[in-house]
Amino acid sequence: MPGRTAIGLDIGTSGVRAAELSFGKGGITLEKFGQVAVPEGAVRDGEVVDRSAVVDALKALWKGSGFSGRKVALGVANQRVVVRQVDLPWMTEAELKSSLPLQVQDYLPMPVEDCVIDFHAVEEIRQEDTRLLRGLLVAASREMVMSNVAAVQAAGLRPMSVDLSSFAVLRAVGRPHAADVATEAILDIGARISNLVIHSAGVPRFVRVLLTGGQDVTDAVAERLGVPSALAEAVKRGIAEDVPADEQELAGTAVDLMLEVFVDDIRSSLDYYSAANPQFRPERVVLSGGGSLLEGIADRLAAAVRLPVVAGDPISPLHVGRTGLDEQQLGLVQPLAAVPVGLALGVIS
Ligand SMILES: Nc1ncnc2c1ncn2[C@@H]1O[C@H](COP(=O)(O)OP(=O)(O)OP(=O)(O)O)[C@@H](O)[C@H]1O
Ligand SMILES: [Mg+2]
Repeated sequence: MPGRTAIGLDIGTSGVRAAELSFGKGGITLEKFGQVAVPEGAVRDGEVVDRSAVVDALKALWKGSGFSGRKVALGVANQRVVVRQVDLPWMTEAELKSSLPLQVQDYLPMPVEDCVIDFHAVEEIRQEDTRLLRGLLVAASREMVMSNVAAVQAAGLRPMSVDLSSFAVLRAVGRPHAADVATEAILDIGARISNLVIHSAGVPRFVRVLLTGGQDVTDAVAERLGVPSALAEAVKRGIAEDVPADEQELAGTAVDLMLEVFVDDIRSSLDYYSAANPQFRPERVVLSGGGSLLEGIADRLAAAVRLPVVAGDPISPLHVGRTGLDEQQLGLVQPLAAVPVGLALGVIS
């Protein structure tokens, strides 16, 4: 029997997915993984908008996946989440916890009482006789978090913690002790949201949530060809049948244009960050998320940012228990597992 276990739950635009991990002396085991699609529009930019559709999907997920419990670590990713580097006067962890709301109002675009806030210390800074704590301030709109929490509760689950999806991806696919690389950029490309996080030795230094993903590429193809989204999705993935060559070419042009804008956006984020932090420049990019499966995206990105781009692997550091998934299925799950696996990992770290 597994010892301590944790379940991470990711509510994505295209589906809800969860991973259960157990933590034992011999390491960490992936016990279960499951996902269930949600109808288009039920989750918008990380926010549950059609609660009953999401509740149905969560119920189906729990029914079908054999998770051992109902307590979950929930992820959030949304443009209304603010992540900023701030310097606070040095203080103990307990002091920080109690005074954080008073310390950070000036950094927030909304009243602090409307936010759920968190602070991740990055380093201590000494300037002459002042001692500062530099870190990342995370503030999410309380209304957004609560609407997701309410959907999870309505499905009979118990959210025990809420964490930023970017940090989850970092835990799952970041390689803090890699001998060859000190600083990495990790990019999770979803359907509508992409998370960019830069870390050195596991410490997050920069986070950006972009409102672009694979569904925007599909939309561009649908518009260019004048076809429904499902067909555009198949054309994009190169699995549609009987598509005339000229239409395939048109679709290719639409994909190319979207990719160019996306890759440019990532490049400018990396440039902006690197200019301010020359001693912590990313040395490679690690990809995850379903959107990273788009043909050619890794090469385009590598050429634009002039760094090696590799696929993240959240599963190989884990033992694999009786998940009911074979090798091939685990391979397919890999890009989708980073967020839920990382959320579950956050429960013990
Ligand atoms: N084989 C593939 N080729 C190209 N794109 C793919 C492939 N498989 C999945 N995708 C794309 O991946 C995207 C979904 O990725 P993912 O499941 O990570 O998103 P999500 O977590 O549901 O959404 P979000 O994070 O934006 O809320 C879709 O846009 C889909 O088109
Ligand atoms: Mg996602």
